[in-house]
Amino acid sequence: MSKSAILPASQPVNPLFTRQQFGSDFIWGTATAAYQIEGAVDRDGRGPSIWDTFSKQKGKIKTGEVADVACEFYDRYESDLLLHKEMGFDAFRFSLSWPRILPDGTGPRQGGRINEAGLAFYDRLIDHCLALGITPWVTLYHWDLPQALENKGGWPNRQIVDWFGEFVSICTQAFGHKVKHWIILNEPLASSVLGYFTGMHAPGRRSFRSLLPVIHHTALAQAEGGRIVRQNVPDAQVGTAFSCSPVDPFSPSSRDLGAAARVDALLNRLFIEPALGLGYPSDTLPFLEAIAKKVARPGDMERLAFDFDFIGLQHYFRAVVEHTYFMPYLWAKDVSPLQRGVPAITEMGWEVYPDSMYRIIEQFSRYEGIKKIVITESGAAFYDAVQQGAVHDPARIDYHQQYLLNVLRARQDGLPVAGYFAWTFLDNFEWAEGYRPRFGLVYVDFRTQQRIVKTSGRWFQQLLTH
Ligand code: NOJ
Repeated sequence: MSKSAILPASQPVNPLFTRQQFGSDFIWGTATAAYQIEGAVDRDGRGPSIWDTFSKQKGKIKTGEVADVACEFYDRYESDLLLHKEMGFDAFRFSLSWPRILPDGTGPRQGGRINEAGLAFYDRLIDHCLALGITPWVTLYHWDLPQALENKGGWPNRQIVDWFGEFVSICTQAFGHKVKHWIILNEPLASSVLGYFTGMHAPGRRSFRSLLPVIHHTALAQAEGGRIVRQNVPDAQVGTAFSCSPVDPFSPSSRDLGAAARVDALLNRLFIEPALGLGYPSDTLPFLEAIAKKVARPGDMERLAFDFDFIGLQHYFRAVVEHTYFMPYLWAKDVSPLQRGVPAITEMGWEVYPDSMYRIIEQFSRYEGIKKIVITESGAAFYDAVQQGAVHDPARIDYHQQYLLNVLRARQDGLPVAGYFAWTFLDNFEWAEGYRPRFGLVYVDFRTQQRIVKTSGRWFQQLLTH
């Protein structure tokens, strides 16, 4: 998209800060997700996920691409993790593919079966991380619902809470002795709203009627999942990860201020507040009242709460919004960076606005119940070109550097931010956008599967190993 993203090649710049300034206990990692990197979608007994089905439907993925092969991480994880180690990261975040472990979606308790080969893959991956001194951070749900469960109703069906619970039990029983960092859900807002309301993500449903049950079952699964991990792995650090953005009104008018408050409730409060025992933010978004009145069962509102050890924040951009009469219930709409004439825009069309990193950490730190924050994702897609075997990506270096400066500032101000996971390790399948947006610190040539550590990867290496 924007040509301004194509910047001239340059040499790596030295980091503006040192690793030591963040403190020796600060966690440095990269983040990935199973469906985006693994490939091998029909190997060793894996069942189909909603993303396999969705991506094969015409027009769902902008580039018409699918993730059958992706980065071939399933076969290449050993050599890939050597690169990860070389860059100096000490934590690797990946997700467990539910349909690789439970091809029918359920385990033996609910009539399904465990795919031992699926568990064996993750066992090898975890062991390889540990052998390299890399701490595995495992996400339990990063959007690849087994198609078999979507066929039974998917997230609008309340049984999903038990289906997910059994999956969590099986995973924690298998790996709890060696994995001590667990993330229950990845961006529940995205999987519910994009998956079941706008239809832009799998399973591609567009139904306002489903939305409230989906939100409620997702929030219940988040808390129940937390309880199961804690029970099976008492010494685990248990978290869940939210997409989040500080929200600014386009103008200081009271109508735009109201719009900003509503969008803030949707983007930043919807899943954390029930987990903290505060219920859904229906004070600001009255349509959510119907959850307590129509969807929830007795006792549910208490079951939504879980005392997470950390909250994962995934932050990329700020939101600027204005009032509109054309968006029922929300009465607000985004004012895009292009409309605002913002100079620094990524390939995703997202504004680069580093200060928002500080603001979002500060905003979440205000909740009394949040003990620790980990930035479980942040990063940028820019156009990358291979020139004489190298990929120089100064815009991506600048992004991480500026966003990290704000993390450092937050830490120096005493806010409880404990780690940063760059999104992402390898260029990969960016969901409905296909392979075009490249977020990786490592370039992947998807025709040959060749890897090239980008200058940004070398920048991290410089920061982390010197
Ligand atoms: C959010 C998601 O967790 C991840 O899967 C996605 O690729 C990145 N952010 C970038 O959009």
